[in-house]
Amino acid sequence: SSRRRFLLGVAGAAAGAAATAASATIDGSAADAADAATKQPAAFSFHGTHQAGVLAPVRRSTALLALDVTAQGVDGLKALLQTITERLRFLTAGGTPQELGITAAPSDSGVLGPEVVAGGLTATLAVGASLFDERFGLASVKPAKLRTMEDFPNDDLDRSICDGDLLLQFEADDNDVVVHAVREVLRATRAGMQLRWRQDGFASPPRPSGTPRNLMGFKDGTANPDRTDAKLMDQLVWVHGGARGEPAWAAGGSYLAVRKIRMLVEFWDRVGIEEQQQMFGRYKGNGAPLTGSAEHDDPHYERDPNGDSIPLSAHIRVANPRTPGTEDQRMLRRAFNYDGGVDANGNLDQGLVFTAFNQDLERQFVTVQKRLIDEPLVDYISPVGGGYFFAVPGAKNSSDWLGKGLFA
Ligand code: HEM
Repeated sequence: SSRRRFLLGVAGAAAGAAATAASATIDGSAADAADAATKQPAAFSFHGTHQAGVLAPVRRSTALLALDVTAQGVDGLKALLQTITERLRFLTAGGTPQELGITAAPSDSGVLGPEVVAGGLTATLAVGASLFDERFGLASVKPAKLRTMEDFPNDDLDRSICDGDLLLQFEADDNDVVVHAVREVLRATRAGMQLRWRQDGFASPPRPSGTPRNLMGFKDGTANPDRTDAKLMDQLVWVHGGARGEPAWAAGGSYLAVRKIRMLVEFWDRVGIEEQQQMFGRYKGNGAPLTGSAEHDDPHYERDPNGDSIPLSAHIRVANPRTPGTEDQRMLRRAFNYDGGVDANGNLDQGLVFTAFNQDLERQFVTVQKRLIDEPLVDYISPVGGGYFFAVPGAKNSSDWLGKGLFA
């Protein structure tokens, strides 16, 4: 086979990304190396206890697809989930349709040429609360905390871009790989599901180094819990079957909170840098907390009880006060930027595709979101869409399929 595949485990991929970030200076050789790294047709291994996309480092390009199931009955749903799994197995590994035994014509759209490159593709399948309505008789196995996303104060939700029976998130190094995956999965499942909404996003390269920036110009993701710490991920990300009222099948899955948050960038760009920094509690330049000097310094709230350095209302201080008892409210955020062009009033439509994985939606995302209701940043943002989903456990081997446990 002419395939050049680099099969990386998630840990290996994380280490690779860290190395790329560390060497991403503006000198030519490092830039070449980074460039070469992004051109590697890296493939994540599809099989495992967990879906690879949960802990994988954020890739450059993403598409979130919320879908409603049109397949009839339990057998229809099973067949749909099997077809999705089969497609994702192929797309994330790369190769030719013949190698997978896909003989139906046309076997592939050919958007990526004759050979499908894996391109660092991950695909994460999650289920929404509506999948557990009367249609498929699955009410008794619904993840305990899964529900339709509520309106929070200051939300301006457009319900046509909220929730859905299923959510598929694709991520890859290049847009064409994401677009191809979207096309191929939809082509193979036309009879079984219908696109409800779609949100594309991108992650910026390090500017000039470290964590990528959001469209307010601040590094976003700095204080995330360490995804390579398996014990920590067991406490903050993964659901344990049978625990906290969760159904057994949910073990190894994770709650996914999605929020499309528009940024009122015309207003934001008129705010001075000092005031911007006070709103987040970090320096815009290198992302350091206002009590520190390097990006990954911990903020020192105990030395700053009155908020003289980091205001008590600052985003990071409200989101994670680092007081005893709040450790288990931390979540794994995976932020993307979106640029949706222009709205009907001639204003720029830009913002954040906030996604976060949680062991317990209430204890983590909902608790933190409620605390953030009064932060100064609310004047510059407007949540417009999203939803709550549950990323199902991984497919363990080539005979397993995503969501199989629902029918055990
Ligand atoms: C931290 C931006 C929405 C939770 C941060 C940081 C930035 C940021 C710049 C500091 C760097 C970092 O640690 O990542 C934004 C923007 C938002 C937004 C621009 C909206 C447009 C949210 C939402 C939540 C959230 C909706 C959860 C409900 C957090 C948490 C931290 C954080 C938990 C880490 C705090 C810490 O551990 O120090 N955010 N964020 N953010 N944000 Fe947000």
